[in-house]
Amino acid sequence: MQDLTQKSSWGYSKFSTPPITPKNTLDNKVKYLITSALPYINGIKHLGNLVGSMLPADVYARFLRQEGETVLFICATDEHGTPTEIAATEAGLDVETFCQKLHEIQAQIYRNLGLSFDYFGRNSSVYNYELTQHFYQSLDKNGFIEEREISLVYSLDDERFLPDRYIIGTCPHCGYQSARGDQCENCTSLLDPTDLIEPRSAISGSKRLEVRKTKHLFLKLSALSHTVKVWVEEHPNWSNLTKSIAMKWLNEGLQDRCITRDMSWGVPVPRPGFEGKVFYVWFDAPIGYISATQAWGIKNSQDWETWWRDTENTKYVQFMAKDNLPFHTIMFPAMILGTRENWKLADQIKGFNWLTYYGGKFSTSAKRGVFLDQALNILSADYWRYSLLSMIPESADSAFTWELFQVKVNKELADTFGNFVNRILKFTAKNFGATVPNGGSFGAREQELQNKSEQLVNKYCDSLRNMEFRKAIEALYSLWSIGNQYIDERAPWKLIKENREEAAQVVRTCINLIRIYALVSAPIIPFTSAKLFDALHLSNTDRMTKISESVNFDALYPGHPIHVIEPLFRKLEEEEIKELSVRFGMRN
Ligand code: MF3
Ligand code: ZN
Repeated sequence: MQDLTQKSSWGYSKFSTPPITPKNTLDNKVKYLITSALPYINGIKHLGNLVGSMLPADVYARFLRQEGETVLFICATDEHGTPTEIAATEAGLDVETFCQKLHEIQAQIYRNLGLSFDYFGRNSSVYNYELTQHFYQSLDKNGFIEEREISLVYSLDDERFLPDRYIIGTCPHCGYQSARGDQCENCTSLLDPTDLIEPRSAISGSKRLEVRKTKHLFLKLSALSHTVKVWVEEHPNWSNLTKSIAMKWLNEGLQDRCITRDMSWGVPVPRPGFEGKVFYVWFDAPIGYISATQAWGIKNSQDWETWWRDTENTKYVQFMAKDNLPFHTIMFPAMILGTRENWKLADQIKGFNWLTYYGGKFSTSAKRGVFLDQALNILSADYWRYSLLSMIPESADSAFTWELFQVKVNKELADTFGNFVNRILKFTAKNFGATVPNGGSFGAREQELQNKSEQLVNKYCDSLRNMEFRKAIEALYSLWSIGNQYIDERAPWKLIKENREEAAQVVRTCINLIRIYALVSAPIIPFTSAKLFDALHLSNTDRMTKISESVNFDALYPGHPIHVIEPLFRKLEEEEIKELSVRFGMRN
């Protein structure tokens, strides 16, 4: 890593210019900037992390792109902080090698899950270092940074200051012997590390600890409180969850917050007397949204700045789990507003509750719950994408169970959707050759199917625009179901014996319905849609049809080729479900 405590050739000066006028490179057309909370580097994420930010963000991005909108979808790994250093030590690697490795592992998993980031960056990038230092300097210039001397616990054997939660000892209230310096897990009392009896380092176990004075920088959130409040109140369209968390913080009064740490892994603090200190991970983390956009722009020769400076035409939507809401509704906006520079603030902050594992927390240490690499070894991405979205914790926490997953896979994906597709394709090939058959006429029952399809597709599109994922999945499932009802009523396998023309009409209608399914389902189960596009020999133009304009029962006309494909989904047997719940631990 180059030395960034020095001014780089273009780094700061680039940002210290007064707010620039947006360049009209995109003709003042609305464009969507979408970010998902940046996953911590120190380990593979679990199903809860996926469904609480990255997956819904991806569905939203895919949907808008298909609707012809201009979209930029950005994510990155969040790499700094003490837990990263410790994880690296445990892995026997130096921290940079560790991060490099974990970044690649995570990136590959997200590709396999079909997450369509336009760029997946890293918070340890040179861009993030420069931009973080720039933010600090602007905040300092505007009087929002204060130097204070504080007392912290230093471990002589670890040769480092210990964050509160890395000091453990006996709880003075309940006698629990492994209480953490910030809170006792056993009796939940909030603690100060100095309250602990027989304190020791959580890293080495060493008891040679002492309290030392050290200088740190504080972000004066108290002075920014009013500005943040005004901004929050400009957003009546936020969800209750988002609004209530923001207002709770504002009403309790914002406390100034320490934004530096005594450690070496992180963004150096460019200030005399702060050698050996870095910014606190939550200070540089959200700046990663901007710096990853910058990295994308530089890599692809794109104008990245318009996305962050054109506050009129950019619509910025952030996705995250609820524990991240305070940082995104208060801290990051305070940092941006405090620079008094022209940076885009979020228009919509979409927060999610927790996905639990049988009502309990996913836990790495207790080996409970499912991690993304394991998930992909069990079944491929689309099974997870559909199932998780159907149980997404939108308005309350929700529980993942293997039994529920089995219902989603067997009944909804395999029986309702997959079976319909495979039955029709096979039936067509067998009776009409592998082409859309000619004959019959579009009657009242077909008209009814078309009307219902239109209603459901409209409901689906409205829901996705509003980021109501459960409603969207309900509409999608109903859309699959009406195809089944239609074919059961019209029973082409009987019709073919009495009235071949009529049977041809039914088959043609169903093949066109499969085309609609492929288009509509694409944001949710993109890999399956791609298979259907191929099976139906859709032209490249047709593959790009807007979902809102996808209902057209004449799109594939007589003579158009199709081919039969393998069953789209397999089922999960009882035995397998039992085995999985044993393997992954079933209860807390
Ligand atoms: N790494 C954090 C988490 O997983 C999220 C950081 S979001 C950020 O909880 F953008 F602010 F970095
Ligand atoms: Zn206790």
